[in-house]
Amino acid sequence: CLPPTIRQLLSSRTASDPVQVNGWVKSVRRQKKVAFAMISDGSSDKGLQAVFTKVDLAKPLTNGCSVRLTGKLADSPGKGQDKELQVDQVELLGECDPAEYPIQKQALSVEHLRDHCHLRARTDEITAMIRLRDLASRSLCRYFEDQGFCYVHTPITTSSDCEGAGEAFRIAPPPSPDLPSSENPAEFFGRPAYLTVSSQLHLEALANAISRVYTLSPCFRAERSQTNRHLAEFWMLEAEWAFTRDIDDVCTVLEGSLRHVLKQAGASGEPVWTAGERARLPQLQAYADSDTAWPRLTYAAAVAELEAFHAASPRTFDFAPAWGRPLQSEHERWLAEHLARGPLFVTDYPAHLKAFYMRQNDAPGRDPRTVACVDLLVPGLGELAGGSLREEREDRLRGAMVRFGLGEEEYGWYLDLRRYGGAPHGGFGLGFERLISWMSGVENVRECIPIPRWAGRMLL
Ligand code: 4AD
Ligand code: MG
Repeated sequence: CLPPTIRQLLSSRTASDPVQVNGWVKSVRRQKKVAFAMISDGSSDKGLQAVFTKVDLAKPLTNGCSVRLTGKLADSPGKGQDKELQVDQVELLGECDPAEYPIQKQALSVEHLRDHCHLRARTDEITAMIRLRDLASRSLCRYFEDQGFCYVHTPITTSSDCEGAGEAFRIAPPPSPDLPSSENPAEFFGRPAYLTVSSQLHLEALANAISRVYTLSPCFRAERSQTNRHLAEFWMLEAEWAFTRDIDDVCTVLEGSLRHVLKQAGASGEPVWTAGERARLPQLQAYADSDTAWPRLTYAAAVAELEAFHAASPRTFDFAPAWGRPLQSEHERWLAEHLARGPLFVTDYPAHLKAFYMRQNDAPGRDPRTVACVDLLVPGLGELAGGSLREEREDRLRGAMVRFGLGEEEYGWYLDLRRYGGAPHGGFGLGFERLISWMSGVENVRECIPIPRWAGRMLL
């Protein structure tokens, strides 16, 4: 019912019937007897070249204006494109003053585009990123569907800070003008409420009824550090399933989902890569196709490797690695880039470095100071995803809640999940912008989400 997009036109046959093309003018080139304009509608990484033999028709066109062109789609005699539109009619839909248009043709700095993030989707790079997000979310959904998972919707507002890192944004109702300020209720829900930092706890409730669930949803963190891996609002793919007792299962499902996305993105003809990004495909394909499972190493073994390297080359790291200390981003990257030379699972971290809900490793032969958890580290980025078995034993969970200072009033429902037929379960969360950054090679997650928010920045 809608006219074809430029992508559809470029893959269709040429015909003598007139076609209609809607889009934005990327560039105009005028000669004496002919004019050319490159038209883009964001559907393709290639624009459509419009040719005006009646040069006056191209007169009103400027960079950035929106147009409806009618003409004949023909094989192009020129270099650089297979097809062109021989234009008969031009309708200028939206003017654009070239003297003021912020998205000019010349290379634009990342900062300039961040300052104009309402317009930056007009650039090839941001368009490709948005399409890569689309492809990655579709292929993740396909993978989980094939594995028998149910896509569920979890709330954005919550009464708990899942990760306990004190990064949850508090939400409050607007003051009511009808009430004196002394009577204005401080809490809309009758208790403190937050924007969710992770859907995990709610997913656990659903996994303990539907067995296998996942969601892709926004998460919010009042993260003040200005790094290339952190946003204040980001998207997380979270999967949670019941009847699992082994952290290896968590690694296997996470690895399976990522291999699937890498394969789909590599094989797809969709316009999700810029020319520079395409160079990464063989490397991504090698990770997806490798015959052996991605390596798995305990935290203790990873720290031993880091310590040995640090002893031999003391100037490499800013932070000395040691058992009991968090892995810094420089450590994570070294492990993935130099030790594994690819994705690497690090498991079984000390309990005091991780969240309260992780299952204690207290089986014979395991180190009871540690929990059954995993971080997936990848080259160029460090942590891409994290997961764990969840403590399903009520008494131990109660003990952990006391140690973390969590009240039963707030988390009574979470204990109920254990009390009433709680099954052993586990899951993980995959940072969606970090996935896009890893796949595309775009260094900063701020360029991996259409309209980013980070500490100090919310322009629209
Ligand atoms: O490691 P995190 O904090 O784990 C959780 O939230 C678990 N509850 C997930 C689960 O098991 N269901 O976050 C998971 C992932 C990180 O590995 C990272 O990729 C991403 O979410 N992430 C962020 N991405 C962008 N900006 C931030 N501020 C992020 N914080 C975490
Ligand atoms: Mg983590």
